[in-house]
Amino acid sequence: QHARRVFSGVQPTGDLHLGNYLGAVKRFVEMQNNDWETIYCIVDLHAITVSWPGREGMTAATRELAAAFLACGMDPEKSVLFNQSQVPAHTQLAWIFSCVARLGWMNRMTQFKDKAGKNAERSSLGLYAYPALQAADILVYHATHVPVGEDQRQHIELTRDIATKFNLDFGAENFFPLPEPMIEGVATRVMSLRDGSKKMSKSDPSDQSRINLTDDADTIAKKIRKAKTDPEPLSETLEGLEERPEALNLVRIYAALAETTPEQVMAEHGGASFSTFKPALADLAVAKLAHIGEEMRRYLADPAEIDRVLGKGAEKAAAIADPILARTYDIIGY
Ligand code: ADP
Ligand code: NA
Repeated sequence: QHARRVFSGVQPTGDLHLGNYLGAVKRFVEMQNNDWETIYCIVDLHAITVSWPGREGMTAATRELAAAFLACGMDPEKSVLFNQSQVPAHTQLAWIFSCVARLGWMNRMTQFKDKAGKNAERSSLGLYAYPALQAADILVYHATHVPVGEDQRQHIELTRDIATKFNLDFGAENFFPLPEPMIEGVATRVMSLRDGSKKMSKSDPSDQSRINLTDDADTIAKKIRKAKTDPEPLSETLEGLEERPEALNLVRIYAALAETTPEQVMAEHGGASFSTFKPALADLAVAKLAHIGEEMRRYLADPAEIDRVLGKGAEKAAAIADPILARTYDIIGY
């Protein structure tokens, strides 16, 4: 009944890095080019749940994310690319879902607890209700698949619970599909280059080792040369790297960039010293990433063109979402 339709959203919070690329954007582009119907949303409404970056900051972060998507090969003819605030159906359906989701369900969301910390009383209602908006983001397109990181698994389960309860309570069997999470595997989880036990993340501003998508070739190469490693050369096989997270991380990054497996990388580079392996990885990273930064700068030099692409994307998104919202209203009796 429901087509294979992918939805994923990314917050416009700036400073996209290698982890975002390998774990998210690169996968998005692969799906776009592989026969999926793909809908990618810059979730700018989610981006004010904790704080507002200022008017200019908001606009700049939205354009930067759009430029990153485009520079990484997202094709607005093949994917629907837009920002959430431009398609009102998201928030309209979110209200209905706020009336479907139970307080007990929302109270179990671990990401709210993490983000609110000790100060839950001072958190916004939006931060608490965020997963209901996320469910609406997905279901307003009848999306069937959602590529996300492991930290979003619980929210996708909530989305399925909301869909199930809506379908049941409003007598609309199978109206909303139960979307499948496509959880990013360890192979594309990028760890910090200075601490192999932590994810590479923009939320650690003191981490100078992070490879940003806007870095130029020299900066990329330098960051890889300076990546933390132990003094031993690479082991002969992948199993030998189990207790060496920093080395394993570099091998996985190599594999992801080369579009091969870590086993294959070890077949080629097993036993190599880091003074040999790091330059090989640096060359590969520069070849795969440096042009992304250049392309981003080219897009960002023409913000009106980015806005035009997003505006057209919003029209396409609304053309899918509006009829689904209209049917939802009809089911309820509005
Ligand atoms: P950050 O952790 O830098 O704040 P986000 O939480 O905004 O990044 O994540 C945006 C997307 O990028 C998500 O799909 C997430 O799973 C993916 N992602 C973020 N960091 C990494 C990483 N270190 N490795 C792989 N994927 C990542
Ligand atoms: Na496609």
